[in-house]
This record gives sequence, C-alpha cells and structure tokens, in this order.
Amino acid sequence: MKVAIIGANGQLGSDLVEIFGEDAIPLTRRDLDVTDATSLNILNELKPDVIINTAAYVRVDDAEVEVEKAFHVNAIGALNVAKACNEIDAVNVYVSTDYVFEGAKGEPYTEEDIPNPINVYGLSKYTGEIFTRNYSKKFYIIRVASLYGKAGARGKGGNFVDSMIQRAKNGEDIKVVDDVFMSPTCTKDVSRMLKRFLDLDLDLDLDLGIKPAFGVYHIVNEGYCNWYDFTREIFTIFGGDAQIQITPIRSSELKRLAKRPVFSVLKNKKLDDLGLRMRNWKEALKDYLVEKGGIVIK
Ligand SMILES: NC(=O)c1ccc[n+]([C@@H]2O[C@H](COP(=O)([O-])OP(=O)(O)OC[C@H]3O[C@@H](n4cnc5c(N)ncnc54)[C@H](OP(=O)(O)O)[C@@H]3O)[C@@H](O)[C@H]2O)c1
Repeated sequence: MKVAIIGANGQLGSDLVEIFGEDAIPLTRRDLDVTDATSLNILNELKPDVIINTAAYVRVDDAEVEVEKAFHVNAIGALNVAKACNEIDAVNVYVSTDYVFEGAKGEPYTEEDIPNPINVYGLSKYTGEIFTRNYSKKFYIIRVASLYGKAGARGKGGNFVDSMIQRAKNGEDIKVVDDVFMSPTCTKDVSRMLKRFLDLDLDLDLDLGIKPAFGVYHIVNEGYCNWYDFTREIFTIFGGDAQIQITPIRSSELKRLAKRPVFSVLKNKKLDDLGLRMRNWKEALKDYLVEKGGIVIK
C-alpha cells in the first residue's frame, strides 16, 4: 500500500513517515499546501491508496484571533483533501482532536459522544471532521490528544514534555495546572496503531481478520491524568538527584485567550471493540524519555 502523509515534517507526521517506512510518501507544505486545491493535483500523479492528513493550524490561543487562518487550514484544507481523495479513490484519514469536546461530561468521551467545541481551534477541527465525513467516499477521522513526539509540534515550537525538562534544566519555576484532565499521548504509539488499523482496512492483518467500518476512531494512550500529575510523572521517570519543585496551580490563574475543556479525556472504545489496545500513558512516556537519551530512571 502507498500512504501519502501530509504534514510529513510535523510531530505526528514525521513518526508516521518512520513507521510506514517504504510505504510512506512524505509530503511537506513545500510539496503541497492543503489550503491551495490546485497544489493537491500532485496526488493524482502519486496515486496513494491512503492519504493521512496531519496538516493543521495548532496554536490554540492564536486561533482566537487568527480565526480565518485556523479555518483555512483545519476546515477548508480538510475539504480540499476529501475531494482529492475521491478523485483517486483513496482512503481519507483526517487527524482530529479531543478539543472537539466541551469537557463537561466528567468521564472519558467515546466516539459516540456529540462534539461541542468551546474554542476556535476545536471548532475549526470539528468543521474539518464534518467536511471529511460528508465529502469523502472512504474516510477515517482519527482523534488524538495532548501529543508529544521527538520532532516536537512545529506549530507550537516543541512539546510539553521537552519544554518541562528544558525549564527544569534552566532552573525555572515550574507551575502546572491540576484541574485540567486529558489523555497524554505519544505520537510513536499513534503511528504504530494507525499502521495496524490501516492494515486491517486493507485486509493485511490476517490475525484479527476484521475490517473496520469507516467513521470516527479515538487513538490515545490508555489512562488519563491532569497536567500537574503528568509533569510529576515526567520528573519521576527523569529522576536524577535534582530536586525539581513543581507547583500546582488552577487554570483560572493562567490568562489565556482560548478556553480549554477541563476534562477532554478520550476513550478508545471502537479500537477496543476491534481487539486493538493502546498501552498506558506512563509506559509510553517512559519509553519516550529513554529514547530521548540521557535519562536516569529511578
Ligand atoms: N499537538 C497536539 O497536542 C495535538 C492534540 C490533538 C490533536 N492534534 C492534531 O494532530 C495533528 C498533528 O499535530 P502535530 O502535533 O504533529 O502538529 P505539527 O508538528 O505542528 O504538525 C503540523 C504539520 O502541518 C503542516 N502544515 C501546516 N499548515 C499546512 C498547510 N496549509 N498545508 C500543508 N501542511 C501544513 C506543518 O508544516 P510546516 O510546519 O512546515 O508549515 C506541520 O508539518 C494535527 O491535525 C493536530 O490538529 C495535535
């Protein structure tokens, strides 16, 4: 199978390129801009079987003021990709977010829950989901959350894990909210699972032998925590002799432009139904930190 990966130099995209290996057709913004429909003509020549669209405007606070830019990439871009997929009969995989939910449920969201975004970024991604669902002949919407991967989020200038470690190294104060809960997720794990999942789609997984139905799927590491506990776990694994002071704060103390859902934990219900399981976030975090190197595990 040939899998085109849009956003190939991004945090998730670069891990997807590595995991799909020889099957991957990496496409960066220089090759193709999702907001420019004519630039998508390149896909007619490449003729991939699957197109994974990881391209996104990801700066949640900036999106509140750059509303059009966010919608252009996350929504119109998704529409353009959906149409391009149909032309070549490719499966359209749109990567979405936990921020489509408002966070009031108080327990993990499944694929059956109805989105109700509370910020521009979430609404632009949800609009991208609707375009994907209503314009694609064959599609999967894959919701991920709170990603960290070795490339760091390009749009955000890094990821949370790396930035906490850097701040500790710089001797900075570390204050983290303890009233916002999410599913910390490693991009390597998402990439591996997406490969297995698409193998099922193309009937390449003979063990399970089930073909998933088109639709929405959640792919996050299992379990959840708040950002303060996540940070504590980073430094528990990071270890060493350094005394790192982490102060819990309330999210109301942070003056940020965009509202965030207070509980956007996702449950991989439909993956579970297929017999596919993601590992726990603590295990994934440990491997990530070990792979980054220089980590002293207690
Ligand atoms: N990061 C998170 O915590 C998180 C959480 C939930 C969901 N997600 C979703 O996961 C996906 C991947 O996020 P990520 O963390 O990997 O972000 P990222 O590192 O910023 O990657 C986004 C990629 O999209 C590319 N891109 C941006 N605008 C484009 C355009 N108009 N045309 C083509 N490519 C464009 C960027 O390329 P350039 O940088 O070269 O412009 C970059 O390679 C996104 O769909 C995001 O909404 C992320």
